[in-house]
Amino acid sequence: IYISFLRAPQTYGQPFVGTDSGPRLLREGGLATMLTQLGWRVEDIADLDFSLHEMQESANPANARNCALVGHASNILADVVETKIKEGLFPLILGGDHSVAIGSLTGILRARPNTGIIWVDAHADLNIPETSGSGNMHGMPLGLLMDHPDGAYDFSKLPGFDFLVDGPRISPEQLVYVGLRDVDPTERLWIKDLGIKAFTMTDVDNYGIGQVMSKALDHLKGRPLHLSYDIDSVDPADAPATGTRVRGGLTYREAHFVGEIIARSGSLASADIVEVNPSLSDDDGANETVELGLQLITSFMGKSII
Ligand code: ARG
Ligand code: MN
Ligand code: MN
Ligand code: MN
Repeated sequence: IYISFLRAPQTYGQPFVGTDSGPRLLREGGLATMLTQLGWRVEDIADLDFSLHEMQESANPANARNCALVGHASNILADVVETKIKEGLFPLILGGDHSVAIGSLTGILRARPNTGIIWVDAHADLNIPETSGSGNMHGMPLGLLMDHPDGAYDFSKLPGFDFLVDGPRISPEQLVYVGLRDVDPTERLWIKDLGIKAFTMTDVDNYGIGQVMSKALDHLKGRPLHLSYDIDSVDPADAPATGTRVRGGLTYREAHFVGEIIARSGSLASADIVEVNPSLSDDDGANETVELGLQLITSFMGKSII
């Protein structure tokens, strides 16, 4: 089977430069060779070109920063992801900040609407422009795409997002969180009201990562799986080079276990790895974080210890 690397150098979903170099560093770190050694065949196309030349003034509101740029990139990524899945490939989306998930989830849901999503993250990324305190769109992918009894988000009011007006939506039962520890008040309300399955760091401490993952996989049983791996789910001691660090995260082994057990389920069909930002730490920290990203990819793509 083939993996297609989709290099998504997105950085406009958050305030810092540098997340756009994630795809290049993962590639230069030897990702293709590592996956070939696991028996995968790899298709590596060029960086997706997200540049946008004409932009309207209204396209950068304070509650959805750079939305025209993020929308433009999401539209491109959604089409490529959908096409690759329909061609029978496994799309591996190399971010970029977590706003790339708007595009990857849209493409995935168009091709496979019943996909189960495992969101490994310190954050819930369940904001919409009206609830976000920061206006950073990497905190919004799930909020924007979530179906909601009071009405799903109306994309016609968001510059750059016309393509999503009748786009696919996520229903709450097809999402599971792992690793949460920094959740905004309105996100907390949504998780409760919508009944989203959420395993916080408290649950990891209480049950252990083994039980957490077996409950998580059980909840999504029978669905093809998409893993969205935010590197900030891992404790900053092991993943310092990222923009929104939160202490008390997954240990190095817990982070790998998540990948290993998802690989073993045999249902993983697509994945993103996001928020590696080498410019936010010293060289050692940057190298460590890139290396961690590479190793986590090999874990969820099927590397086992023996
Ligand atoms: N909840 C915060 C916000 O909306 C932080 C989001 C961080 N997201 C991320 N993908 N690192 O701004
Ligand atoms: Mn995230
Ligand atoms: Mn995060
Ligand atoms: Mn721990």
